[in-house]
Amino acid sequence: MDQLGQPYQTIRWHVDPEQSVDTLSRNKDIHEAARMLREGKLVAFPTETVYGLGADAASQEAVSAIYTAKGRPSDNPLIIHIGEKEQLYTLAAEVPPAGEVLMRRFWPGPLTLILPHRGTLAPKVTAGLDTVGVRMPSHPVSLALLRVSGAPVAAPSANRSGKPSPTDADHVWHDLQGRIHGLVDGGPTGVGVESTVVDVTGEVPLLLRPGGITWEELQEAVGEVQVDPAIVQEGTAPRSPGMKYRHYAPQGEMWVVVGEGAAQIRRVQALADEARRQGKKVGIFSTEEHRAYYQADWVLPCGSRQDPASIARELYRGLRRFDQLGADTIVAEGFPPEGLFHSVMNRLSKAAEGRVVQA
Ligand code: TXA
Ligand code: MG
Repeated sequence: MDQLGQPYQTIRWHVDPEQSVDTLSRNKDIHEAARMLREGKLVAFPTETVYGLGADAASQEAVSAIYTAKGRPSDNPLIIHIGEKEQLYTLAAEVPPAGEVLMRRFWPGPLTLILPHRGTLAPKVTAGLDTVGVRMPSHPVSLALLRVSGAPVAAPSANRSGKPSPTDADHVWHDLQGRIHGLVDGGPTGVGVESTVVDVTGEVPLLLRPGGITWEELQEAVGEVQVDPAIVQEGTAPRSPGMKYRHYAPQGEMWVVVGEGAAQIRRVQALADEARRQGKKVGIFSTEEHRAYYQADWVLPCGSRQDPASIARELYRGLRRFDQLGADTIVAEGFPPEGLFHSVMNRLSKAAEGRVVQA
């Protein structure tokens, strides 16, 4: 919305995500979107994780507009997206050795590094902190857009604050149409959960948000990596400001049942039955392997247990689908927190506001 509260005419461009970065860098729609970003306008675009809502990171006004469009609390800093690794040195005051190793190993890709900043960005980007989060996405559409625009782009996930992150252009359209200037539609994203956030300012790298790169992969690259206790323990103050808010939450009350096999199936079904007896419309979020065992108003598939990546990819789409269907209660299968399941469980337990039970 503009300053008078009038909705914007949101322009939606369709681009082919199968094209190379070079071809996309000559695309006229990408050029128009990049021009809008340089003019201080808000443009949503696909990354390999989720859609981002971009604005020129050097413009205090453009960055303020992101918070307004999303309804985001202003103490939650934004991630800066760059199209070339070298741009990092114009943003960070210092890149410690662990940061160098991680960036060379995982960029472009779903990893955000927290580093001391140089003070060249709009103060709102960092929410007044002395550090900044930076990442280089690998999606060809985001790389082309970032390279053509030439500027660092601040981009949180392109959802209304508190809602599941958007893994398809339709999700962005639903949440932000009329509140932003443009949307580059490049189809569904691939990873499905956000980037992994790692603070490399201390002695030992600290994992603040599990995401597309796993803890195991990080340790393999740099040795010891600590995990922010807030990720595992409820009630501990998180170091990453964004982790403390209600997040990814569907409208219905959600429960997560951790376990395996028959015990898990029994507990999921029992919770669903109890809610149905209370007159609730109930959805079950089930892996493909267990789907046939459940009865509820809706049983939606969330990928295969054999393939954690498929579950990460389907997660937010499923949560949004339950909202569309009008589920009052959602019971989801949970997983042991290893590999990508660690990131999936982090999002599931937030969406469920901590209602996680053991089968
Ligand atoms: O995959 C992603 O990271 C997506 C795509 C669009 O790139 N972006 C994303 O941004 O998830 P957002 O704003 O929804 O989440 C950013 C997270 C928040 O938890 C925020 O608190 C944390 O990164 N963060 C950003 N800057 C930080 C800083 N200086 N120190 C600690 N945490 C920071
Ligand atoms: Mg977000």
